[in-house]
Formats: sequence, C-alpha cells, structure tokens
Amino acid sequence: MRKCVFPVGGLGTRFLPATKAMPKEMLPVVDRPLIQYAVEEARRAGIEEFIFVTGRGKAAIEDHFDRSWELETVLRERGRTEELAALRESLPTPGQVAYTRQQEPLGLGHAVWCARHLVGDEPFAVILADDLVLADTPCLGQMMSRHAALGGSGNMVAIIDVPRSQTRRYGILDVTADDGTLVSARGLVEKPAPEDAPSTVSIIGRYLLQPSVFRELDRQERGAGGEVQLTDAIARTLPDVPLHGLRFSGQRFDCGTQPGFLRATVAHALARPELKVHMQKILKDYGAPS
Ligand code: UTP
Repeated sequence: MRKCVFPVGGLGTRFLPATKAMPKEMLPVVDRPLIQYAVEEARRAGIEEFIFVTGRGKAAIEDHFDRSWELETVLRERGRTEELAALRESLPTPGQVAYTRQQEPLGLGHAVWCARHLVGDEPFAVILADDLVLADTPCLGQMMSRHAALGGSGNMVAIIDVPRSQTRRYGILDVTADDGTLVSARGLVEKPAPEDAPSTVSIIGRYLLQPSVFRELDRQERGAGGEVQLTDAIARTLPDVPLHGLRFSGQRFDCGTQPGFLRATVAHALARPELKVHMQKILKDYGAPS
C-alpha cells in the first residue's frame, strides 16, 4: 500500500473558537500539530504518497508541510541547528504530497471520494488526524502487516471496544468472529443507538480500503447526520470485499473532543523523556497521584 488519504475538510465546530481561523488538525499536542503525528505515522508505516483533502481555511496545513525559507535562514544565522534539522526532518520529499479540496463539508465519505482520482485503482489507507494513537509500532503499520498477511484483498479498520452507552458516537461492527485481536464483520452501522448496536466493537479513524469503495461513494447517498458516510460505503461492498477489524496495540485519543485532547496532551508529555517529570509534577500539583 503506497497511498494514504488525510481528510481534513471538517469544520471542527467542537473546538470553536480555536478553529475559527485555524484548522482543527493544526491544534498542537505538546509541540506538533495533530496532522504531523498522522503523517509521521503513515510515513513510519511505509506510505509514500500523502493525499490531503482540505477545505476552506486549511491553508496552514499546506504551509506546514512546505519549506519556510525565511525561518530556515533565521535559524541558520542564529546557529539553531537542532531546530533546523527538526524542521527539515518533518518535511515530505518534493512531489510526495498532493492536495485536493472538498468544496463543501458533506461528510467523511464525500471527503474520501474527493481523493478518488489521486488514489486511482489501488488499495489505499485513510487516517483521521483527530484520532491520535500513541504506539510503539504505528497503528497503521500494525494494520498493514496484518492486512498483507490476510492476502491484502479486503478492507480493514482499526477497532476499540466502547461502552454500549457510547455507540452513538461511532461506526459499529456487526461481528461474526473475534479471536481477541482480529475481528471479522458482516456489517457496519454508523452511530447506532445503544439498543440497536450490533456489538460494542467500534471503529476509529484508520482504514485500509480497496478502490471499490469509490464506486459506492459515487452514489453520494446521505446517511447518519445527513452526511455521506464512509462506513455506509464500506458496508455496501460486503460480502464481496471482506471486512476485518484490528484491535491494535497502543493508546487512542479522540482529539476531536476536549477531554480526549487534554488526555492526549498528558499522555504524550509523559511519553517524552524530557517532559515526563514536569508533567508528573503538574499532575501532582493539581492533586493527581504521580
Ligand atoms: P468530525 O466528525 O470530527 O467532524 O470529522 P469535524 O467537522 O472535523 O469536527 P466537529 O464535529 O465539527 O467538531 C471526522 C474527520 O473527517 C473529516 C474531518 O476533518 C475529520 O478528520 N471530515 C469530516 C472531512 O474531511 N469532511 C467532512 O465533510 C467531514
């Protein structure tokens, strides 16, 4: 798998006013924006082409992955070699990144569909940057290994188990087999009420998809919330394209919500050797045991 789509066309209303003039995906956890974690995860998993589906007001994302000549000159003049190296390292090589625009935020399925010509007729990955995963082996890399071991011909999503009371927030799998790590599914329902949910196995923002999903997205059918849902299109390719869910190892943070974002900040600071003691002290000062 060579290509990864990053849908960043959402409005980020849950983070207003922070997201009024700045994309949600540029919100920083410790010292890097969410979108940079997503791109680094994809790159570590071996992805070679990065496709961003942006929208109005998302120019900061393009600038972030471009060279900043003025800044580099100033850093060089001041002898700030470490910062300069870090800046360079975070850049994709020329030609590795492509941008297309979702002209209206009609839903995640619509955003992914906007990338169809850039993806072409080959399997591809999707990462939602607001689902941040802290893991030794990148979540996408874990999925790609398992997907390849299964023959590489189906669809795969990353999964977590959620309390039944929360099913309305997620896409939920209709599970046929579960060995504790890998799940097979015969269906997928977007945001079901707890009493209607076929299980409590929920998908998070990591997908490995066959290009056949674009044919379903072509129909532009609206689903939950009046949006074109990616999950509906994946469900419609069943049973021709088998669907697996992978319980990855790592911690997932829903950075699209404020509590999830705060939790991600604490966890990422604790995971950084130079910040760990500071964060432990902060937690202690505010009453948490270290
Ligand atoms: P969310 O459901 O979190 O929506 O989208 P949102 O607009 O970003 O945020 P809120 O709910 O208003 O606070 C999940 C992912 O799908 C992308 C978002 O950018 C995010 O990565 N998305 C969503 C699109 O690219 N386009 C859309 O039309 C909708």
